[in-house]
Amino acid sequence: MGLFKKKRINEAGKPDFSRLPRHVAIILDGNGRWAKKRGLPRKAGHAVGAETFRTMATYCRDIGIEYLTVYAFSTENWKRPQQEVDAIMKLLEDFLREAVRDLEKNRVRIRILGDLEPLSPELKRMIARTEEESSVYPDAQVNICVNYGGRAEILHAAECFYREHPGHEGSLSEEDLNAYLYTAGMPEPDLLIRPGGECRLSNFLMWQTAYSELYFTDTLWPDFTTDDMDRALVAFQSRDRRFGGVKA
Ligand code: IPE
Ligand code: IPE
Ligand code: MG
Repeated sequence: MGLFKKKRINEAGKPDFSRLPRHVAIILDGNGRWAKKRGLPRKAGHAVGAETFRTMATYCRDIGIEYLTVYAFSTENWKRPQQEVDAIMKLLEDFLREAVRDLEKNRVRIRILGDLEPLSPELKRMIARTEEESSVYPDAQVNICVNYGGRAEILHAAECFYREHPGHEGSLSEEDLNAYLYTAGMPEPDLLIRPGGECRLSNFLMWQTAYSELYFTDTLWPDFTTDDMDRALVAFQSRDRRFGGVKA
């Protein structure tokens, strides 16, 4: 039975939709190289990457993945040329404008995770509006990490905890810290996908991915399709998650 089931899944190339990960995280990488290969400016790669993100968000919602968290701009990405940073922020604005317009059609809750302080007042206003108006759709959630860094998040959480618990004595528990992470209240990612060929986390969800299954692919993000997503999900379903224990 087990063998038959495995064969059937492989033949169809489709995951078993009855046992999907609850939370998938993706590092949106490879936009620049995608553009370079075509002799285009890097911002053209980001624009196509933003389209891929829309397609994947819809696909994940449709197949029943509860949480999709994407890494769109890291705390280190400010090192890039101003023109490129501006182009990425503009794409985020476009996405949020569209998300508010199409809220009822999409029915997805949107959260932006990261230190939003350095963002433009207009972007901050749009983020607040999108988060508020989309909060009535709790069934599927998309988190976009912007000015996000895993180390910064952990430090920020610890600072918030001690600010709100002055005089706290004894040790800080994992639950204490969890409650102040940007991802407070969400399940940890079951599966982390990195397209673009690099095999590193680049400061993404360092705390939350302690037991995530990692999946790397050379496909550049703008080329990533629903078939690539299916392949990642099939790979996830073949993994044996032990969480430090022994197999039953
Ligand atoms: C990912 O694509 C998008 C961001 C980091 C904002 P890159 O821009 O890193 O693309 P490559 O890695 O240079 O190809
Ligand atoms: C990670 O990609 C950040 C995002 C995708 C937002 P980078 O392209 O910035 O990572 P490195 O520099 O290759 O590690
Ligand atoms: Mg990159």
